[in-house]
Amino acid sequence: MSWVSVVVVAVWAMLPAYVPNNAAVLAGGGRPIDGGRTWGGRRVLGDGKTWRGTAVGTIAGTALALALDALEPTVSDALGVTVPGFPMAAGVALALGAMLGDIAASFIKRRLDRERGAPVPGLDQLDFVVVALLAAAIAAPDWFADTFTLPVIAVVIVVTPLLHLSTNAIAYVLGLKDEPY
Ligand code: CTP
Ligand code: MG
Repeated sequence: MSWVSVVVVAVWAMLPAYVPNNAAVLAGGGRPIDGGRTWGGRRVLGDGKTWRGTAVGTIAGTALALALDALEPTVSDALGVTVPGFPMAAGVALALGAMLGDIAASFIKRRLDRERGAPVPGLDQLDFVVVALLAAAIAAPDWFADTFTLPVIAVVIVVTPLLHLSTNAIAYVLGLKDEPY
C-alpha cells in the first residue's frame, strides 16, 4: 500500500472514534457523571464529563460507523483505495472506547490536580485513541487485525494529535469550546 492509502485508511477507520469527542462538545451539559463527588479533595471526573455528552458522543460515533459502512463500496471505488467497512461491534467499540478514554484521562487529570479544561499535552490527544483501539481489538479482533496494521497504527498516532488540535482550535474560534486544545 502507498503511504497515501495508509493515511486514508487510518483516518477513515478512526472516524467513528474521532467524532464522539466533538459531538460531546456540542451536546455537553446536564448532570456530570461523577454526580459532583470528590476523591482526595478533587472531583472524581469534573463537570466536563456529562451523561448527555457521553451518550450523544457514543451514539454519534456508532451512527457514523453505520453510515461509513454503507458508503464503503462507493468510497473505495472512487478513491481507488480499499477502505474498511465497520461491523456493528467495531463501530460501537470505537465510539464507546473513545468516550471512555476521554473519561479516563479526566480521572487522571483530576488526580494530578489539573482543573477542568487544563491541558495535559499527549494525554489530551491520545487518551481516546488508545482506549478506542483496545476496545475495537477486544470487540472485533479479526476486523481489528485486518484494519489496524502496524503502518496504519503508526499513522494514527502521528495524525490524530494534528487533527485533534486543529478541530479543537476551530471549535474554540467558533465559540463552542472554552480552550483551544
Ligand atoms: N463533554 C461532555 N461529556 C463528555 C466529554 C465532553 O459533556 N464525556 C463536553 C463538556 O461540556 C466538556 C466539553 O465537552 O466541557 C469539552 O470536552 P473536554 O475537553 O474533554 O473536557 P474539559 O471541559 O476540557 O474537561 P477535562 O479537563 O476533564 O478534560
Ligand atoms: Mg479539555
